Amino acid sequence: MKKKVAVIGYGGMGGWHCEHLQNSDVAELAGIYDIKEERRELARSRGIRAYESFEEVLADPAVDILTLAIPNDCHKEDAIRGLHAGKNVISEKPVTLSSADLQEMIDAANETGKLFTVHQNRRWDADFLSMKEIYESGTLGPVFNIESRVHGSRGIPGDWRQLPEHGGGMMLDWGVHLIDQMLQMIPEKIKTVYATMDHVTNELVDDGFKLDLRFESGLLTRIEVGTSNFVNLPRWYMQGRDGTAIIYDWDLSGKIVRCENWDEKDVVPVVTAAGLTKTMAPRDEKTIAEHDVPKPNPDVHDFYRNVCKAIDGLEPQIVTHPQMMRVMKVMEAAFESDRLGQVIPFAYDQK
Ligand SMILES: NC(=O)c1ccc[n+]([C@@H]2O[C@H](COP(=O)([O-])OP(=O)(O)OC[C@H]3O[C@@H](n4cnc5c(N)ncnc54)[C@H](O)[C@@H]3O)[C@@H](O)[C@H]2O)c1
Repeated sequence: MKKKVAVIGYGGMGGWHCEHLQNSDVAELAGIYDIKEERRELARSRGIRAYESFEEVLADPAVDILTLAIPNDCHKEDAIRGLHAGKNVISEKPVTLSSADLQEMIDAANETGKLFTVHQNRRWDADFLSMKEIYESGTLGPVFNIESRVHGSRGIPGDWRQLPEHGGGMMLDWGVHLIDQMLQMIPEKIKTVYATMDHVTNELVDDGFKLDLRFESGLLTRIEVGTSNFVNLPRWYMQGRDGTAIIYDWDLSGKIVRCENWDEKDVVPVVTAAGLTKTMAPRDEKTIAEHDVPKPNPDVHDFYRNVCKAIDGLEPQIVTHPQMMRVMKVMEAAFESDRLGQVIPFAYDQK
């Protein structure tokens, strides 16, 4: 039988969950609750049941799962109340605002035995899965640098995302996705964290950031979010000893370039500005080969499929509590690094 899901918060992402659940093979929409009457009315006008209060949702025995699509500062309270009312809980990202809050949520899940997870839907992004496939294939040789960026030029949306008390800022908004992806790709301990936050259009919260994670093998990753970028840098850039991979955009445009012949003797110097260089001379097709990047075809419905199976004990939940905590600890270390202007040893991974 399909699991019944109540979506809490009928805004941008609540609407996405509702549509998704109306097309799901494993779950169905029980209804929504939003604190705003006009949002409840809108849901009703679309034929969706709107509960009158959060308590009414909790009291409905038909509801198996709560999906929390409310501002970031509200996740903790509703998750803990939901778990204690016997509901399984999916929180939108970021799961909450601090590791101490997250621990309370995990404790509530452990006490009640209910499933508690976070909607890390960008694990199903094709660009990420393409890069992960390249990384795991070893085709680039030992990888020493990975860069993951999202760039826009519209500043922070003019809602609760601009306010620290609601958990605003781009680290908590986009950073949480990009960090989670990177940690899914690289099965290594993090040694150090270094971050700088931007405040171009917003004083109170970061409107972008640059985050460098150094892993145990020496591998460096850069995660960058920008909202004042009128020209975007590529979505992904990966360097290994034997080649480079690039993905320009969400549409998977990109390429892999591999060195096929290291013994090129007759490098023609290239004229650069007011000088000559052999070091930076471009390679020709005799020494390199170009390949397409993989084009995976993921299905984000697998997130709800996994949640439903995990509730029935049929498979482990994909987005686990330790993974949620590690991402939160990285974000905390990033904020500390920016505040102190220092590289932070990532003590959490060294335990
Ligand atoms: N996973 C993703 O890809 C993704 C994308 C966008 C947003 N999100 C996350 O989804 C959450 C919601 O973001 P959004 O963009 O939909 O925001 P939004 O402002 O568009 O919608 C939030 C809705 O929640 C309602 N609300 C506020 N407090 C409430 C409460 N206590 N109980 C019930 N309703 C309440 C508001 O009235 C509003 O309708 C955030 O945590 C955000 O980070 C995730």
